[in-house]
Amino acid sequence: MTLAFTVRPGGALRGGVRVPGDKSISHRAIMLGSIARGTTRIDGFLEGADALATMSIFRALGVRIDGPDRGRVTVHGVGMRGLQAPRQVLDCGNSGTSMRLIAGLLAAQPFDAELDGDASLRRRPMGRIADPLARMGARIETAAGGRPPLRIRGNPRLRAIDYALPVASAQVKSALLLAALYAEGTTRLTEPAPTRDHTERMLAGLGYAVRRDGASVALAGGGELRAADIEVPADFSSAAFFMVGASIAAGSDVTLEHVGLNPTRTGALEILRLMGADVALANEREIGGEPVGDLRVRAAPLTGIEFPERLVPLAIDEFPALFVAAACARGRTVLRGAAELRVKESDRIQVMADGLAALGARATPTADGMVIEGGALAGGTVESHGDHRVAMAFAMAGLAAGAPITIRDCANVATSFPGFVGLARSAGLRIAEAPA
Ligand code: S3P
Repeated sequence: MTLAFTVRPGGALRGGVRVPGDKSISHRAIMLGSIARGTTRIDGFLEGADALATMSIFRALGVRIDGPDRGRVTVHGVGMRGLQAPRQVLDCGNSGTSMRLIAGLLAAQPFDAELDGDASLRRRPMGRIADPLARMGARIETAAGGRPPLRIRGNPRLRAIDYALPVASAQVKSALLLAALYAEGTTRLTEPAPTRDHTERMLAGLGYAVRRDGASVALAGGGELRAADIEVPADFSSAAFFMVGASIAAGSDVTLEHVGLNPTRTGALEILRLMGADVALANEREIGGEPVGDLRVRAAPLTGIEFPERLVPLAIDEFPALFVAAACARGRTVLRGAAELRVKESDRIQVMADGLAALGARATPTADGMVIEGGALAGGTVESHGDHRVAMAFAMAGLAAGAPITIRDCANVATSFPGFVGLARSAGLRIAEAPA
């Protein structure tokens, strides 16, 4: 089914909003809970299609998992050596995180498996994990150009590596850390720039020693994970749409509750503040090894800036929303150093530039970024190309546009943000959805 959103202009975001659980942490809780010894209770689990794909895959690998029931999931861990050979191809759907991280884990198992996904995932590069995993002794066949499906011939005798990642990618880092749990020796990974560290934090929380030394992270294979309860905070990346929406819509005053504020995720908060956004932090605390807090966002005039390149990996999923903020700001915004955006669920540089142009904005895509001349947005129809974050970013643009915006191909919003339309509407977005 295809789905279209239509957003009427006007409206403001107000009140308290709790967005669903963090996608990255939900995936990792299933994965690490499955190979831990004992029972892991997860609260706040994201019941979105991506994390549910990970859950189905671990069931197919022989793990008993109860739920989800209103965010509660119980994983009956099978221990490091307890996964079983799957009887079917493992379907990752739209989820790059599922495919890349699970490939790392499967590379080390005493059985074979195949991972596949939808048309978008089949276009995404997997050589970035297959190549370093091969250096560890893994045997992974890809389709042409290093694309999915992945055929993995398990090798329980992987070797540790010392590897400098060519791209800043938490998925690559995490895939290699999962393989390293099983490898002989100590694996050391060096990142070109910091990326989200949920895997490292959760491993430590489950009793596995992980050493961080500057840009490097290291762990020795052969240990065990001990089950522990995991509380998943609200997803900063989902909250970011409301941060942008509230900033650009006059009269907005919204409080985003219990949001994960891991500093490897909050680059967009820093960027929005540099643009003049009014965001106040309250209730800062730590749950399960992750910082959490409430974000109160009030409408404020935004100004175009040069996005600091060091913040790019720390805001990597927020650029669709940030481009909308830039289009509504005064003056020019320039993004560089973000070529990774071209290999996300869609080519987010081209797709966002096309959508902004359809709304009358002056947006010029470059090889690794975009130049946006801020001003007013008109109404119109934009294509999301099945990309959840593109769809939600343009939905928020509707708050500040001169006429209604229709966004096509929105069904994949459910991959990361089930209930987006209802929650956004209750906060004040004049959004309707209809089959298209
Ligand atoms: C993720 C890492 C990022 C991000 C993705 C989730 C993760 O991908 O874009 O949404 O959970 O590790 P890359 O590692 O490709 O940057």
